[in-house]
Amino acid sequence: MTNTINMPMIGLGTWLIPNDVVERVSTDAINAGYRHIDTAQAYRNEEGIGHALQKASVPRKEMFITTKMWPGMFGQEEPFQTFEGVMNACDDSLRLLQINEIDLYLIHNPFAKDLRLEQWEAMIELKKQGKVKNIGVSNYNVKHIKEIEDANLQMPSANQIEIHPYHIVREDLQKYMDHHTILPIAYSSLAPIPNWREGSQWNGKPEDMKSGAMPCQEMANKYEVTVPQLLLKWAIQLGYPILPKSVNMERLKENIDLDHFSISRDDIKIMSKMAKDDQKCLAWSGGFDPIDVD
Ligand SMILES: NC(=O)c1ccc[n+]([C@@H]2O[C@H](COP(=O)([O-])OP(=O)(O)OC[C@H]3O[C@@H](n4cnc5c(N)ncnc54)[C@H](OP(=O)(O)O)[C@@H]3O)[C@@H](O)[C@H]2O)c1
Repeated sequence: MTNTINMPMIGLGTWLIPNDVVERVSTDAINAGYRHIDTAQAYRNEEGIGHALQKASVPRKEMFITTKMWPGMFGQEEPFQTFEGVMNACDDSLRLLQINEIDLYLIHNPFAKDLRLEQWEAMIELKKQGKVKNIGVSNYNVKHIKEIEDANLQMPSANQIEIHPYHIVREDLQKYMDHHTILPIAYSSLAPIPNWREGSQWNGKPEDMKSGAMPCQEMANKYEVTVPQLLLKWAIQLGYPILPKSVNMERLKENIDLDHFSISRDDIKIMSKMAKDDQKCLAWSGGFDPIDVD
């Protein structure tokens, strides 16, 4: 896997961090050493991140900012974004984040079946105009990316997807992304831990994962690290940049403190086999996997 867009391997995830809290969390994260922040139009917290970037002790050029355009959602009344809508969404994100250029701009999901290519053409135009440095997609499967390839358009540089030992990248998707140098970025790396998104309606854990037991605890003990650190390192050793989210300073530090150990090949393999057959996405509620949409 090649990180052609030179993005930091660790970024701050900000889904479910309210706008009035995210400035403090982003500032803590930057002070703890994070140089990448991942947000989205749909998270409604770009404004708070913009305030943190303005006040940051670190120059803008040392930071990497990812945000995502919400393409619309089927089954809801909101319309799917057109070319014009994507252009406007990007302008809104730039204004709220108070930056001149987004380092990585993604289409959040492939839901806009009939407008997917039109939306992608707008992403290419945004890159041409210098408003975004790199363009990519999120929650896309092979069939969605192949539409872009078949239309002979510039290919995405990255695909942000749910990746952890219970939801490994499907083989066909991994091969396709490798072939086209599309970087897989891992979200929800900590979904296997019991307190993941505790109390949130978005905690989509199936019954068999609700036991309260930490997975891989013995393995984590062997490396003298915590289970969250083990899960995060697993992704990094497989080449996936990660986006751990925490509002807690101690955890922010824990989640970035990953350089002092290395997981053996055998243990990586054991972790990668934790997935049950047909394990669905956990990040989206109700066992729904966005990667399966038409
Ligand atoms: N593209 C997409 O569709 C998509 C979907 C989902 C996520 N994402 C991105 O990926 C990011 C990460 O995914 P995520 O938000 O699902 O969750 P995550 O980073 O896998 O886990 C976050 C949860 O784990 C807890 N936590 C964090 N560090 C911990 C530690 N060291 N020990 C124990 N608990 C810890 C957090 O609680 P506290 O905050 O209380 O510490 C929170 O409940 C998101 O924030 C978002 O930026 C993208």
